Parts: sequence; structure tokens; C-alpha cells
Amino acid sequence: MSSRGNFSSRIGFILAAAGSAVGLGNIWKFPFEVADGGGAAFVLIYLIFAFILCFPVMVTEVAIGRKTEKNPIGAFNDLGFKKWNIIGKLGILCGVLILSFYNVVAGWAFGYFIEMIAGNFGVGKVFGSFTSDIIKVGGYAIVFMFATAFIVSRGVSGGIEKLAKILMPTLIIMILSLVVYSFTLPNALEGVKYYLVPDLSKLTNVNTIGGALRQAFFSLSLGMGALITYGSYLSKSENIISSSALITLFDVGIAFIAGLMMFPLVAYNLGGEMNDVQGGAGLIFVTLPGVFETLGSTLGVVVGGFFFLLLSFAALTSTVSLLEVPVSYVVDEYKVRRSRAVVIMSLVIFIIGIPSLIGNGYSDFFSNAFALPGGSSDFMTLVGYITDVLLMFGGFLIVSFAAYVWKKENLAIEISQGYPGFKESFVKKFLDFSISYLCPVVLGVLFIIVVLNNFFGINLLG
Ligand code: PFF
Repeated sequence: MSSRGNFSSRIGFILAAAGSAVGLGNIWKFPFEVADGGGAAFVLIYLIFAFILCFPVMVTEVAIGRKTEKNPIGAFNDLGFKKWNIIGKLGILCGVLILSFYNVVAGWAFGYFIEMIAGNFGVGKVFGSFTSDIIKVGGYAIVFMFATAFIVSRGVSGGIEKLAKILMPTLIIMILSLVVYSFTLPNALEGVKYYLVPDLSKLTNVNTIGGALRQAFFSLSLGMGALITYGSYLSKSENIISSSALITLFDVGIAFIAGLMMFPLVAYNLGGEMNDVQGGAGLIFVTLPGVFETLGSTLGVVVGGFFFLLLSFAALTSTVSLLEVPVSYVVDEYKVRRSRAVVIMSLVIFIIGIPSLIGNGYSDFFSNAFALPGGSSDFMTLVGYITDVLLMFGGFLIVSFAAYVWKKENLAIEISQGYPGFKESFVKKFLDFSISYLCPVVLGVLFIIVVLNNFFGINLLG
């Protein structure tokens, strides 16, 4: 075991990495991105991208991390390619920016837990005034950042593993039960159709394709070195391929069932008029409380409260991984004590998050001043767009680095530890093809398309 700490077992790594992947991205972001991206066509492309593009990026990140046992900047220095540590620098910047707004939304989820147990199901109808109540949401965001900092300060195997082990299975059972319930509601079928029967004309739509790729990267925590960091704590005897496959399946599976839960509920709320479906950051916060209310006051409180509590925990295993990236960098490179690094980083990130916190109603400027071609104008959406494209760009750089600079042979040597038959396997052929050609081309092209579309309103796909 290295002195940096290791995961105590293979399942520990898988749970922690899956804990990083599964979070608000699956349950909050995925459904509203599906709605923004046109329903089932988005889901289809999302699934394809997750397996043919994202899985190879994940394997590459974990392998680089395990090979070097370093943070995302140190890793590239260690391999002897100092210039490429720009990937790590961008990644750390991206992690800091994501956590700055993610923590705010996690605070909302936690706040909803409190509202639900107080029986306040009407909160969904006044979501806007909830998010502008700065004392409340500010307080929840502070509590959440504090919880994240506490876990990260205890180190990787101490805090993260234990939390994920109990919470993930509970969350899955909860969502599955809600899927069953949502199917019994009026108009459920309209929602299922919207979610599962693709409108093929949307397949070439920029919001569908670009959105699916952005979402896949975000959801799988790829492109910013989070998995380089977690890979750095992985033991040499573990199989990187099967671990990464499990994490991908798990994350995609949870997003998929979250959608299966949400769209019948949305259809129920809209009286089956799926043309009226609206995406946007409020989707789950607006739709779900009303549905919990239909369960009656006692059961509604239990189910609603428990749901938002679990969502908060799922968010916590993700915020932990987001904070771990800059913290591991500061600890490794500047030899700062872990606890001190945690305090400094979480303070800085909280401060950077203030415009996102007040930009959901409280401050007129931060809520409206950033007109984006997609129609939103708040600061949080802007930061979300920036980090999404940074993740795609990071993914592009990571695979290009592995294929053409570090070289596939070296990647294969690392993967073979823990998977002796790798070099002769079909997976190797697929991986070589994907990281040498498929990923660089698709990620590079879509990066340009999405940047032009989201920031300049230029739609290359017509
Ligand atoms: N994957 C997380 C989610 O879906 O909620 C968000 C995230 C965590 C993104 C960690 C990136 C990351 F490094």
C-alpha cells in the first residue's frame, strides 16, 4: 500500500468511482437534458456515446492514474510529459468550477429534504422563491460544503468508501419503487413513449447530439482527471477494464431508471401533453413534490423526505470526488497537510460559487445578465456550459495524449497488470480503435460544434 492511501478493496474503488459518477447528474440533470434534447432520440445517442466514447476515456484515465499514483497534474509530469500537464490544470479548474455550482444544487436537494419532512409539498410550486431565499439556500449550501470538506479531510478510503457502500443500493431500491409507482399514474404511457420511442428526425439536432455527449461526460465524471485521481489509489492487481465497465454500466443504468421514473411523472403532471414538456434546472424540483403529495400526508412525507435525503447523499459522494481532485493536487505538489488543503480549497470554491448561489432569483444581475443562445441567462447555466465543454475538451486531450504521445503500448502494459490476457483480447482492439480514431475525431468535432452553438448561436448542423 502506498503512503497516499489505497482503496481497501476492488469493490471499494468501484463504489467510490461509481459514487463520483452517480449524483445530481443522473437524477437532476439527466431528465432535464433529455427534455431539452428532445426525448428518446437523446437517450439513444447518450447510451451509444457512453459505451463507445466514454468507456475508453474512463479506462485511459484510470490507467494513467494507477500507473503514476499521482494527481492529474503530477501524473503527466511523472510520465515525463510536463507540457501535457495542461490537461490536469484544466481539469482542476473544471473541478473547482463544477463544484462551485454543484454544491448550490446539492444544497437545494438537502433543503427539499427538510421541506418534505415538514410536509411542505407546495415548495415545488414556488421553486423560484425557494431558490431566491438567500438565507435558506445559503445556509444549506454551507452545510453541504462543510459535509464534503469533512469527508475529504478524512482521506480517501476512510470516508468515501463507507458512504457509498450503504447509500447506493438504497438509492437504487428507492428509484425502482418510484418507477413502479409512476407507472400506475394516469398518462404514464405518454411519458414512457416520449422517453423510449425516438423521433428519428431529431438525431441530427445539435441539442440532441451535443447535449448527449456533454451529459455523458458529466455523468461519468470524465475529462477532468477525477478518475486519474481515483485510479491513483487503485491497487495494481485490479482489472481496470472490468472495473470501468461496471462503473459505466452502473452510472448509465441509474440515469436510465431515473428517466423511467421521471417521464411518467412529468406526463402525469402535464395531463399527457408531452409537447409541453419543459427542461431546465427546475424539472425535478418542480415535478416531484406534487407527486409525493398524491401519496397522502404520511406516506408522502416519508417517501418525499427519503427521496431528497438519498439524492443529497448521492450528491455528496460526487462533491467529495470533485473536492478530492484539487485537494490531492495541493497535498502532492505543495506538501500541505490534507486538512489544511481541504479548508483552503473548500473556502475558495464556496466563494467562487456565490454568483451561482445568488443567480437563481436573489440577484437580478447574476440571474439575468448572461444571455445564452439556448435561452437561459443565469450565471449557473453559463458556468455549466463552460465546464461541459471543458470536460469534452479534456477527454479529447486525454485520449489523444494516450494514443499518440504516451503510446498505446504503454497503456496496454498498465492495463495488463490485473488483466494478463488484455493484449490478445478483443477489448484491446476496440480500445485502440476508439482512442486513436473514434474519440479524437468525434470529441474534437463535437467540441467545436457545441462551442459554436452554445456560446455563439451558430448551428453547424442546420
Ligand atoms: N458525475 C457527477 C454527477 O453525475 O452528478 C458529477 C461530477 C462529479 C462530474 C465528478 C465530474 C466529476 F469529476
